[in-house]
Amino acid sequence: MVSVKAQDDQAAAMELVGKLEHLAVGAGVAAALQAAVKLGVPEAVGDDPVEVSEIAARTDAVPGTLGRLLRALERQGVFEETSDGRYRHNALSRLLRDDSPYGLKHLVLWLGAPWTWQAWPRLDEAVRDGKAMVPEIFGKDFYSYLTQDAPESARVFDKAMTAVSSLSSRQVSTAIDLRGVGSVADVAGGQGHLLRTLLARHPEVHGTLFDLEATVADAVPELCAGGEFGDRCSLVPGDCLNEVPVKADLYILKNILDWPDENSLRVLKNISATADPGARILVIDSVMDAAPEEMRVTSVIDLFMLLNVGGQRHTRSEFEELFSRAGLDLTGTEAVSGTFPTLHLVEATVPG
Ligand SMILES: C[S@@+](CC[C@H](N)C(=O)[O-])C[C@H]1O[C@@H](n2cnc3c(N)ncnc32)[C@H](O)[C@@H]1O
Repeated sequence: MVSVKAQDDQAAAMELVGKLEHLAVGAGVAAALQAAVKLGVPEAVGDDPVEVSEIAARTDAVPGTLGRLLRALERQGVFEETSDGRYRHNALSRLLRDDSPYGLKHLVLWLGAPWTWQAWPRLDEAVRDGKAMVPEIFGKDFYSYLTQDAPESARVFDKAMTAVSSLSSRQVSTAIDLRGVGSVADVAGGQGHLLRTLLARHPEVHGTLFDLEATVADAVPELCAGGEFGDRCSLVPGDCLNEVPVKADLYILKNILDWPDENSLRVLKNISATADPGARILVIDSVMDAAPEEMRVTSVIDLFMLLNVGGQRHTRSEFEELFSRAGLDLTGTEAVSGTFPTLHLVEATVPG
């Protein structure tokens, strides 16, 4: 007879096996999520239950295999299956719809962009050698690869960044202190989602959106000539690693200092070279000394940054050290509540 202890040991071992297997199939879970978005499943499922055959007809998929995809996702908490085998949306799956206010489907597509499926298998190499894999695979740096060779991924990237920005722009724009500020430059500001929110809240402020040419060309319409804020916004294309030819009272660097520290230092120094003494530099980013639940996501994104740009996320004290190496005076850090992962405002001034 098997002893109670042996049974307990076996049960505990199987629980661990289950956890490990769940982790090991993570790539499959991500692929299932991305497949559903690419097939348009979120648009084919409704708030009322729909037969799998009907969802298959709407997505032009084979019913049997589509049912298997839906089952795999439902087991992860995405979509809900009714007792008679039909599917409807739940709160999580609804976020994937085209008409969801956040546009998170673009983030799902970005995190599973084609290059990622070439780069993740080489994570061991990246860790062993401490360097990015995208240049190894594509023969050029990440942003050159995106803009020159992968226009569809570049488009998804911009949309994903806009989606992430839109999730937090209200909280971030409320947290930024613009008292006494006449001009704001959002350096590597993407399509200008945050800048648009700031200009809407502060009618007296002038804004500059600075980013790579292709991204600035796709700026949100309100910032462009003829747009709602077009008369108090400048769109400046350029490479912040070369120079930041913009004068402003406040420079924002949001979710950008995750590339190699030598790049971050160059940007900070380029801003200092143009800015007047006393100008403020505000880094807005998630940090690596955060709550454990957040770290489950950010610590993996940190590896994602290693693969693409050879970069990393920082702790608050690492940001402080970066500022000090750039000759800037840190003036404070503050968490922005209501954001995930929690964004922090890390601020410095350009010395006189
Ligand atoms: C992670 S996104 C962040 C965008 C925006 N700040 C936000 O929070 O949504 C990084 C941005 O940096 C821009 N970028 C990358 N390299 C750049 C460079 N050398 N000069 C200017 N912008 C650059 C990209 O085009 C992209 O918009």
